[in-house]
Amino acid sequence: MSTAVLGLQWGDEGKGKITHLLAREADMVVRFNGGPNAGHTLIDRGVKFGTHLIPAGAFYPGVTSVLAAGMVVDIELLSKEIRAVADHIGETPRVLLAENAHLILPYHRTLEELEGSGARFGTTRRGIAPAYRDKVAHVGVRAGDLLDPETLRSRIAWRLDLLKREWPASEEMQAYSAGALAELLLAAGKELREGICDVSPVVDEALRKGKRVLFEGAQGTLLDVDFGTYPFVTSSTTTFGGIGPSLGIPLPSIDRRVGVAKAYLTRVGEGPFPTELENPVGAGLRERGGEYGTTTGRPRRCGWLDLVALRYAATLNGITEIALTKLDVLNELDEIRVCTEYRIGGRSAERYPLSGERLARCEPVYEAVRGWREALGNPTSVESLPKAAANYVRLIEKKLEIRVGIVSYGPRPEETIGTTL
Ligand code: IMP
Repeated sequence: MSTAVLGLQWGDEGKGKITHLLAREADMVVRFNGGPNAGHTLIDRGVKFGTHLIPAGAFYPGVTSVLAAGMVVDIELLSKEIRAVADHIGETPRVLLAENAHLILPYHRTLEELEGSGARFGTTRRGIAPAYRDKVAHVGVRAGDLLDPETLRSRIAWRLDLLKREWPASEEMQAYSAGALAELLLAAGKELREGICDVSPVVDEALRKGKRVLFEGAQGTLLDVDFGTYPFVTSSTTTFGGIGPSLGIPLPSIDRRVGVAKAYLTRVGEGPFPTELENPVGAGLRERGGEYGTTTGRPRRCGWLDLVALRYAATLNGITEIALTKLDVLNELDEIRVCTEYRIGGRSAERYPLSGERLARCEPVYEAVRGWREALGNPTSVESLPKAAANYVRLIEKKLEIRVGIVSYGPRPEETIGTTL
């Protein structure tokens, strides 16, 4: 039985908590895309963690965590996260890193600054796009190179030589030395060496043997490099479609596909956002929802739930079930709106636009529903929510024709409907 969890919006849907809950019942947890641009917030045995790279399986002894080839990895940060989790759970988690996953080097972050994409696109400034770009341009450095110091040094030297010629005026770029960078990576990756391997057969075997494999996505569907709001996207495939290529497993069969969606919508970074609320209602959502980036600390832009975008994202991923998060953040509102349609130039937009520029021209059409203005208590089912809150959940199900199987109404694991604890 395999399950996949990913975000249906612009990231920050609360995937961290949901994957952490589902990982408890898994034998293996596989992260398939992105890098330290992700920030997953979760509470494990009363301790709050903000993780960026390590899969949620690491919190449970006996569960294997896999970082697949579709990721870009900051090896220093990964080692740090493994150590922090080991200290917390009292043993070193079993972590496998794909030898063909690419590494983020310090010069990728420098490059991102020099090119100004942080300011232009509101990126997380973690060197994500430069690392993916080096990968497809054949000038990347891979995790497997850590097992062969000579190859590692020569790959870095080759890339650095090009970069130094491209950026003669950058003191930071000129100061890098291939030897020093290689030493840095080798030292940081020392404890990880044993786990660096070809992960495909390991995951394939687990699937064949009917082990419980959980695939963990990062970022969100609307940030997908191909199907997101280009150019305001990240650099990886954030949809279920990314799982096969990331692992080298053709069309892995995934029975349960959980799409995580927040009960409202947020976006961090630049790019169009039709239902954005630049008013006190939006500010209220930000404060009540603690909408500040886990990775960068930036305030997130907030707005009403966008069902046009959600339907698109659910269809792209073949979602079988929705996990609706942060329902409690809506507690104090008299009226809640949901966007049910876009109009562009006075006409209904048939499909979600594939370009950021076209999305910027879309005007949202809203349906208003009653708020509940009360605390949610400790509900164990949708029926035991306040009536207006239950109606809100049912409205989403009806509009999307997909079951809401999980509802999260607070950061703690027990504040969840629909997962077995
Ligand atoms: P990058 O992934 O750092 O290149 O950033 C590209 C865009 O994706 C920016 O708008 C980021 O804010 C956004 N982004 C990347 N990762 C996440 C995430 O995990 N949550 C929310 N937004 C993200």
